[in-house]
Amino acid sequence: MRKFVVAGNWKMNTTAKSGKKLVKEVLKKAKPGKVKVVFGAPATHLQQTQALLKGHKGFFAAAQNVHHEQSGAYTGEISVDMVKDIDVKYVIIGHSERRQYQKENNTVLLAKTKLSIDNKRKVIFCCGESLSIREKGTHFQYVVRQLTATIFKLSPKEFKQIVIAYEPIWAIGTGKTASPEQAQDMHFAIRAAVRKKMGDKLADNVSILYGGSVKPANALEIFKQPDVDGGLIGGASLKAEDFVAIIQAAKKQSKADRINVAHFTANL
Ligand code: PGA
Repeated sequence: MRKFVVAGNWKMNTTAKSGKKLVKEVLKKAKPGKVKVVFGAPATHLQQTQALLKGHKGFFAAAQNVHHEQSGAYTGEISVDMVKDIDVKYVIIGHSERRQYQKENNTVLLAKTKLSIDNKRKVIFCCGESLSIREKGTHFQYVVRQLTATIFKLSPKEFKQIVIAYEPIWAIGTGKTASPEQAQDMHFAIRAAVRKKMGDKLADNVSILYGGSVKPANALEIFKQPDVDGGLIGGASLKAEDFVAIIQAAKKQSKADRINVAHFTANL
């Protein structure tokens, strides 16, 4: 069955010192069981983060970005080889902030994803609609189109390395969370699209995370939704106590019986 994943995205926050403190506190307090915990650290302390997590089963570091070319004259960029070299397993690709500020389009995002997978990395691939698209009511089509133009072009074997993160842009850093029902509806639509394109096995096994103002107070309700398999956490991942509470919420839900639910959704 699919795995629960709680991934922190530190974005352009923390220093080597504060990042170290944060990881250590989380390692001390979190008891994630089978939940995978990921730390999306900035490039300057990614190696340190990986070193701190070494030997801790179920804990992983993630790069927040990689370049779409293998190497070369790209000042300021980070290559997949560099990430691989320091044994970092995950890469976050397609975050709405990079789509918006770095103008990363679907073609570039697919190239980054393919290169990461070719180099044996796992990809947390983000998708999500803006407020105006949500208000127009075309959000399901929009998100499925984002996936059709990117990760649905992967082979089934490549697709196995994908974790999907649905993050409505209007909920990121705004304090406005999608309601559990809104999250479930979109996650269901995403899984149905994966099913159509990639078949039952991959649809049942792909973890789909929700992101956008997840905090201890709302995490459990969101994680209770049958098609929500964890979260991508921004602001709340910067506070050890909050991040740990979110991990514990995921653990609680990961132990609940989801097999029947998966069966139920598979037959709809
Ligand atoms: P937030 O960010 O939790 O601060 O809303 C989520 C994200 O951008 O991944």
